[in-house]
Amino acid sequence: MDKIVIFGGERLRGEARIHGAKNAALLIQCAALLTERVSTLRHVPKLSDIHTMSSLLTHLGCTVEGDRTVVVDPTQVADGPLEAPYDLVKTMRAAVTVMGPLLARYGHCRVSLPGGCAIGARPIDQHLRGLEALGAKIVLKHGYVELKARRLRGASFVFDTVTVGGTQNLMMAATLAKGTSRLENVAREPEVEELAIVLNKMGARIRGAGTSMIEVEGVDELDGFDHAVVPDRIEAGTLAVAAAITRGNVVLVDAPVDHMHATLAKLEEAGAECRVEPGGLRVIGPDRLEPIDVSTRPYPGFPTDMQAQMMVLAACADGQSLITETIFENRFMHVPELCRMGAEITVQGNSAVVRGGARLTGAEVMATDLRASASLVLAGLVASGKTEVRRVYHLDRGYESIEKRLRALGAKIQRRKDGRA
Ligand code: EPZ
Repeated sequence: MDKIVIFGGERLRGEARIHGAKNAALLIQCAALLTERVSTLRHVPKLSDIHTMSSLLTHLGCTVEGDRTVVVDPTQVADGPLEAPYDLVKTMRAAVTVMGPLLARYGHCRVSLPGGCAIGARPIDQHLRGLEALGAKIVLKHGYVELKARRLRGASFVFDTVTVGGTQNLMMAATLAKGTSRLENVAREPEVEELAIVLNKMGARIRGAGTSMIEVEGVDELDGFDHAVVPDRIEAGTLAVAAAITRGNVVLVDAPVDHMHATLAKLEEAGAECRVEPGGLRVIGPDRLEPIDVSTRPYPGFPTDMQAQMMVLAACADGQSLITETIFENRFMHVPELCRMGAEITVQGNSAVVRGGARLTGAEVMATDLRASASLVLAGLVASGKTEVRRVYHLDRGYESIEKRLRALGAKIQRRKDGRA
């Protein structure tokens, strides 16, 4: 197991190139199952979650080659198990989004229920209700969901909850249904739009992705795709916060600014300067940060995946901030660790009051989930003294060599072996 060791106090300077978006790449990998033809995905980030999804595709019978450019040959899936096993799904819940493609293309599949995760129960009831509306027969037993449908049929479905994965599962399933589907109260995230772009490249007929109503006209078969993944708005947002809190001056090359308005608006409200330049997005951190109030919302609202990172900025700001998490029920696990570094944060229900103005001090801290671990690294960048972030396998799920990127920007940061669990 590794740990990351940081000596805080350095101002970040220079430029960092933003990698392909994890949450887009994972779903596009699933889309490769909708066809028997070969697909190619470029600009793929080198992350453990991507590797896990590639392992699942291999388990299903695909041949998967490459890492930055991933080539998927699904010709053997028809003779495969058509099953996503517990061991894979429990490590990465995005695996449940193979349900839609497998059901639509092969008429049946068996997928382990994902169970809860650190940040919440994260049920998949909306995925299942939606697939039932498209004609799937569903049986839940032994911790698995078994789905069958000779051929899915187009239908109208309104989501009770805005769900990114649920929207993506249904959109993929509907592409091969007989007839047209209308999906309402859908997620508008850029990753939904990106998936629709790929599906339409494959020959699907999808309209409205990025709005709250998506219409899918079913077709009989789909082609493979060759697609370069959009840059990661959350990786870019995380590095932007790093620049803002270290009084830095950093250019984020390829940052998807059009997908970052809520994040950039909050950074500017806090006093950072965010400037679009020919070379990329320049973020300049102020000498004094202003407090900010943040409430996470479905896109285009402030992203829940940036909440933990913004809490570090709030801890450094002069004044009191209020941070409210409305998407997940347990996404404040970074709070006790940040408090050990000297932050003054009080959690009340789904809100955290951050008193700000604290001088953070380095400490040994424990990562608990992907974005919480990113916030601990950010706190280490500004804390006085040494910070050791342990269990960084959480971090490696969503950030490619984050310590190398930050070191290249001037941070005193190293990855070391951690002899302790
Ligand atoms: C996606 O997860 C992202 N993951 C998450 O990013 C992100 O935080 C989340 O969307 C919200 O933006 C991927 O894209 C791989 P949801 P997803 O379904 O699709 C409830 C990261 O850090 N819900 O939109 O699983 C659910 O419990 C990860 O990169 C139901 O109640 O999220 C949650 O409270 C973390 N029933 C809310 O909806 C359902 O059937 C939003 O979840 C489905 C969801």
